[in-house]
Amino acid sequence: MKYNIALVAGDGIGPEITGGCVQVMNKIGEKFGHEFNFIPYLAGGCAIDRTGVPLPQETIDGCLASDSVLLGAVGGPKWDSQPNHLRPEKALLGLRSAMGLFTNLRPARIFPVLMDACTLRPDIVAGGFDMVIVRELTGGIYFGERGRRDGKYGPEAYDTESYSVMEIERIARVAFNTAMARKKRVTCVDKANVLETSRLWREVVTEVAKEYPEAELDFMYVDNAAMQLVRDPGHFDVLLTSNMFGDILSDEASQITGSIGLLPSASLGSSTVGMYEPIHGSAPDIAGTGKANPIATILSGAMMLRYSFGLAAEADAIEAAVEAVLNDGVRTADIAGKNEKFVSTREMTDAIISKL
Ligand code: IPM
Ligand code: MG
Repeated sequence: MKYNIALVAGDGIGPEITGGCVQVMNKIGEKFGHEFNFIPYLAGGCAIDRTGVPLPQETIDGCLASDSVLLGAVGGPKWDSQPNHLRPEKALLGLRSAMGLFTNLRPARIFPVLMDACTLRPDIVAGGFDMVIVRELTGGIYFGERGRRDGKYGPEAYDTESYSVMEIERIARVAFNTAMARKKRVTCVDKANVLETSRLWREVVTEVAKEYPEAELDFMYVDNAAMQLVRDPGHFDVLLTSNMFGDILSDEASQITGSIGLLPSASLGSSTVGMYEPIHGSAPDIAGTGKANPIATILSGAMMLRYSFGLAAEADAIEAAVEAVLNDGVRTADIAGKNEKFVSTREMTDAIISKL
């Protein structure tokens, strides 16, 4: 089969890490008889520099016409003082919205061999953990009305969170379907003791749960969830969250796996065309140094094979290669021990390819 993949490398370490993923996917193509055709598009700071806007129409059109999108990361200090509508992050939010990618899957599990890289006490992670954050991605406060106005005490700013029943229902179904293929446990994270949107989430998720009598559902306030993640991460199977809560908790979940450089993500809508990206940012401080860990992006490629193309064996092969390399003790700087030797982005990529 032939697949057209829009390649949105972005800024900072984006080109290095997506470069690693492209190499790995090409190797998979060679081995399993597929052709992956990567078509580059500009988004983020580099698009601002070249075209004046963070998300050129050509990029939106190209991504919509592709079989899937591989994205690196966008942003950097160079563009931090841009007005809001011209910030690099607008590219990411704009693509998610234009492509209707309302689901964001962020799996976080600990590789047994990386227990030492975990910042939690060994007895807390001894049993391991394996969770998926199912984050709503095109609604809530990220896309609500915002602005500045004159308030009671002078100038003020506001952002609004709103969710429709439809938006909650569809993401809740994704969470339950995800759970049904796992330990069948959904934890809906909210702030229902304060927020009206959260109370609607509870009502709607409770209704959707009736379609899944075998699944277990519990609710947890987001502040408590933040605490439980570091107290007993093994408790979680599927965490169902709004856009903002999922953003916050997924960074926390990534850190306890050892490094944010390990976590992939899949953004999906109602078609098979998805967008796949590491959950970390553009890390401008290490861009060009060869210190970036390509694993999160390479694992995002595996998620693309699995979720957009239905190529489970190929996805398994990449995941197994990553695990084998880690088991061999190959480490990038972010997961190396204090006096341990570490390899570059390219060397890590080559090591993974050599396992395929
Ligand atoms: C993420 C990022 C983005 C988000 C930013 C860059 C807009 O933090 O994908 O988690 O908040 O969604
Ligand atoms: Mg984030």
